[in-house]
Amino acid sequence: KAENLALTPPMGWNSWNTFGTDINEQLVKDIADAFVDLGLKDAGYDYLVLDDGWMARERDENYNLVPDPKKFPNGMKAVVDYVHSKGLKFGIYNCAGATTCAGYPGSRGFEFQDAKLYAEWGVDFLKYDWCDTENLNAKGAYQTMRDAIHATGRPILFSICEWGDNDPWKWGEEMGHMWRVTGDIINCWDCKVGHGTWSSLGVWPIIKLRKDIRKYTGPGHWNDFDMMEVGNGMTAAEDRVHFAMWVMLSSPLIMGNDLRSASKETIEILTNKEVIAVNQDKLGVQAYCHSDEGKIEMWAKPMADGEWAFAIVNMTEEPVEINHNWSWHPVKDDLSGRELAVDRIEYTIRDLYNHKDLVTTKKSLKSTIQGHDVLMIRLTPKK
Ligand code: DGJ
Repeated sequence: KAENLALTPPMGWNSWNTFGTDINEQLVKDIADAFVDLGLKDAGYDYLVLDDGWMARERDENYNLVPDPKKFPNGMKAVVDYVHSKGLKFGIYNCAGATTCAGYPGSRGFEFQDAKLYAEWGVDFLKYDWCDTENLNAKGAYQTMRDAIHATGRPILFSICEWGDNDPWKWGEEMGHMWRVTGDIINCWDCKVGHGTWSSLGVWPIIKLRKDIRKYTGPGHWNDFDMMEVGNGMTAAEDRVHFAMWVMLSSPLIMGNDLRSASKETIEILTNKEVIAVNQDKLGVQAYCHSDEGKIEMWAKPMADGEWAFAIVNMTEEPVEINHNWSWHPVKDDLSGRELAVDRIEYTIRDLYNHKDLVTTKKSLKSTIQGHDVLMIRLTPKK
């Protein structure tokens, strides 16, 4: 796979959560414009990814994939060029099976031909799905596409979209840069919605299901907790928690909302540079649950240079007061071996959503956290 890509979690936007297969050239252009106009590009988002539904139903007489001529009347190269002209990168979708999940031509048996076409168009990112894959070995299928991408000579970020049934975290680092860890996300705090053979999961069911595969994530290879549902119907407080947790878990930050009509509040969450910086920390360690007291969960993420981030989440719908004494609650991460050394070091504490300094670790941290909201803080050793 291409090295030196995704050294921090990839950031971008994907069409699926909001638009499904209802995508077209104008939408891509509007979204690319929004990246720039709303400050998203400036905040670090750079991949614009078109998901399922971009193709015509059949390959052409040379078996090349064809963009749907109604949705993309000027072909895909023109679209990619537009995205590049805005200083952004372009991502596309296909599937390891014979057909995609929405029934368009998949790449099975055409991996090298399809990869070559993407490279000719200037594609920078490939999301590769897992429908229609009976009798296919997952690791082998992703390896074939990895090799096909490699053969093009173009650095293309490879996003593995298997849903966790074949433990993609165990082989994902070798094959790609990120891998999905569950089935599809849905825009709710705590729900699960069954669809017969599979279910969509809300924010907390996803987190709880995959909190223990921390060791597989790191620079160049990330557990992908799925495209975000920020701005897609949860409350602003719940969106803050959702965003904070994807940040803390070192997940790729792929927006899934309609940027053309996003509220100011949604954009404020998505472009909060102090929060994003925690996700982009170069150590790349996934957060763990430091304490779970039922009402309040405290998640901890060790960062480079002895810094730490914590997300203190109110799991209830009522306000909860916290009073946290650092020396009574030693913090040590068994995975990275890092410790919060409050007995030796005084740390400053910064509230990242509200952009203000709080007390230092010498004093108890007191705060009221609203229902389903979060206090997200960064601790920095005082000089
Ligand atoms: C299943 C994936 O998990 C989704 O993210 C999306 O890519 C759809 N397939 C597209 O059909």
